[in-house]
Amino acid sequence: MDRSGFLKLITAAGLGAYISPLTARNVYRETSIQSSLFGSDFAWGTATASFQIEGGWNADGKGESVWDRFSHTRGKIKTGENADRTCDFYNRYPADLRLLKSLNFGNFRFSLSWPRILPQGSGEVNSLGIDFYNRVIDACLELNIEPWITLYHWDLPQQLEEKGGWTNRDIIARFGDYCDLCSKSFGDRVKKWIILNEPFAFTSLGYMTGQHAPGRKGPGNYLPAVHHAAMAQAEGGRIVRQNVPGGKTGNAFSCSYVDVKKLTGRHEKAAQRLDALFNRLFIEPSLGLGYPVETLPFLRRLEPYIKQGDEQKLKFDFDFIGLQNYFRIVGKFSLFPPLIWANDVDPKKLNHPLTSMGWEIHPEGIYKIIKQFSGYSLKELIITENGAAFDDTLQNNRVNDAARITYFNDYLGQILKAKNEGARVKGYFVWTLLDNFEWAEGYRPRFGLVYTDFKTLERYPKNSAFWFRDFLSK
Ligand code: GCO
Repeated sequence: MDRSGFLKLITAAGLGAYISPLTARNVYRETSIQSSLFGSDFAWGTATASFQIEGGWNADGKGESVWDRFSHTRGKIKTGENADRTCDFYNRYPADLRLLKSLNFGNFRFSLSWPRILPQGSGEVNSLGIDFYNRVIDACLELNIEPWITLYHWDLPQQLEEKGGWTNRDIIARFGDYCDLCSKSFGDRVKKWIILNEPFAFTSLGYMTGQHAPGRKGPGNYLPAVHHAAMAQAEGGRIVRQNVPGGKTGNAFSCSYVDVKKLTGRHEKAAQRLDALFNRLFIEPSLGLGYPVETLPFLRRLEPYIKQGDEQKLKFDFDFIGLQNYFRIVGKFSLFPPLIWANDVDPKKLNHPLTSMGWEIHPEGIYKIIKQFSGYSLKELIITENGAAFDDTLQNNRVNDAARITYFNDYLGQILKAKNEGARVKGYFVWTLLDNFEWAEGYRPRFGLVYTDFKTLERYPKNSAFWFRDFLSK
């Protein structure tokens, strides 16, 4: 799709608000793709995260998280907003799960808020936190929705951060205790577990650039956080597997296919360094391949944090690998940042449509990254996040998000292509069910299948939600 085509689509989406729902409904009858082509055992779901949707930031004994602290700190969130209430999933989960069911999804991925369960990060358990997640799990099961738990989606207890957070090697043991408590509490009913959500994202944004909580910066914070997170994902996997017989334990990795700006030596080497950083850094230690230091020598600075025996402890044979893909990267040689000597070409210069986050829409990129990860010795791949933010507008209680429908149709077509070529893709989770708090961006970016009115907290399924309902019925 060229930019003019995309611009026409966006315009249609804008004007589409004035087209009758019947006409708008016809938009998605034209697509050819069908869910049945993915197989009857393919898991279709939506993904969410505790901090982004729950609210109840200090309700019923919950402790403070690094994201509560960060979002309450002036200047950290672009819009000055916080997630104290956000979607109020904490109170509205029954209706949200019924809405999910009405859209024909059979799986719901959500994360546990560590400080809601362990307010100090360790020690005393908050039984009201355990009770909340028991209610969410039981509500899923009553609706015949399979719950998928993410143990860590970035909301670290503030009290652990004050002891160094992910820079303190003790975090591995504290995280292990948390995984043990949760898997023993919920493992009788929850059989799908994801240990860490995007270790690359939370370590680089939270401990290198400071753009995310806890706002630490520099290699002195980043490098220990990387190693301790890599250790924790494996440790958590071992603990959950031991506590949940018959369960499946995975990890969710952010990933982007890295193309190269120009086929010249230095640009190709630069693209390989970005690939090592964005795609290989955490999966390869878990496979026993170690850190990709040959490609990215900067990673040799991890060595002071690697203790005797860690190489072995980094390994864990996850039952599935979650891929979280949104966009492609085009790499080039660059003097900035030093030590990486690589950067990405501005997506605005790539002559492809962009989402409202400025991310390139490049469906072939998900095909390529699935093929790349299929080159590892893995059991299963699950697309645990994929989706797009667009400038959705509510008109007459409808949102005609034609661009998002096209996005899903095109990305799913590429996933099906990879699967038909042998990739062991066994599931797909839309990011996300509800418009929610998009971290440092606040509420502006809307990724949801369902429009959230953050004043009234009313939910309005977008046309893409109805598209999925129909898509999943075929
Ligand atoms: C991530 C997080 C989500 C984001 C989503 C859109 O992958 O960054 O898991 O919490 O909200 O990806 O940025």
